[in-house]
Amino acid sequence: MTERRPIVAGNWKLHLDHVEAVHHVTELGMRLRAMDVASIDVVVVPPFTDLRSVSSVIEAEKLELGLGAQHVSEFDQGAYTGEVAAAMLSRLGVTIVLVGHSERRTFFHMDDATVARTAAAALRGGLTPMICVGESEDERADGATDEVLARQLGAVLGELAGVDAERLCVAYEPVWAIGSGTAATPEDAGSACAHLRKLAEQHLGEAAASLRILYGGSVSADNAAELVTPPDVDGLLVGSASLTPAGFAGVLGAVTDCYRSSRRSPRR
Ligand code: 13P
Repeated sequence: MTERRPIVAGNWKLHLDHVEAVHHVTELGMRLRAMDVASIDVVVVPPFTDLRSVSSVIEAEKLELGLGAQHVSEFDQGAYTGEVAAAMLSRLGVTIVLVGHSERRTFFHMDDATVARTAAAALRGGLTPMICVGESEDERADGATDEVLARQLGAVLGELAGVDAERLCVAYEPVWAIGSGTAATPEDAGSACAHLRKLAEQHLGEAAASLRILYGGSVSADNAAELVTPPDVDGLLVGSASLTPAGFAGVLGAVTDCYRSSRRSPRR
């Protein structure tokens, strides 16, 4: 039996400066103490400028909270003005990094090859890349979802031969669901994540059973429990609902209740 520990990560995107971040994480920590979230990994993913402050709060308050970054350079060092290297993030206490979020692909022209090189750089620097994939509304309407996911995931896994599946994560984030208020149905999220696991098997073999695959896109406290019900969904990548401590705690509460109930066990 493979054990996959669920993850719920809050991607703050371009919100909350470092002063706001300190207040946010301090309050989130107080809320977490009053909850039982021991069965899942909880991660916050703030902007770069917040990382040091957030890491200090996590350390000082001894919070069971992982720290993620939203992006990382494909380069380890050198004359690359404006870039931030994986090893620098690692040194700050960051353990996980989003790679190829659809907003990076759309607004910053990140193509599949760059996503693959960036994931490799994250691993070299000691970080877990969370590889973000997902089809656009037009691709979905054309029935091209499976093909898009195969292209996006294949480009990355093809470059990471021999990688340990437990050092990777994948986030299925359909572009049409991000920020739209319309999440995928649990059935659609479940079947896309199952498809991604099958694709991962082509590169990782049986180890794909230990790859954690998350769903993201308009997750809220109201839909979180049903979205983690399908067996191949191992957690959630949350955007706007993670911007307040109460909102994120609401999602975390829904997910942990779901895992506690008979509907879903994190250990399979
Ligand atoms: P929303 O939850 O705001 O739709 O954002 C999802 C997302 O892009 C998380 O990375």
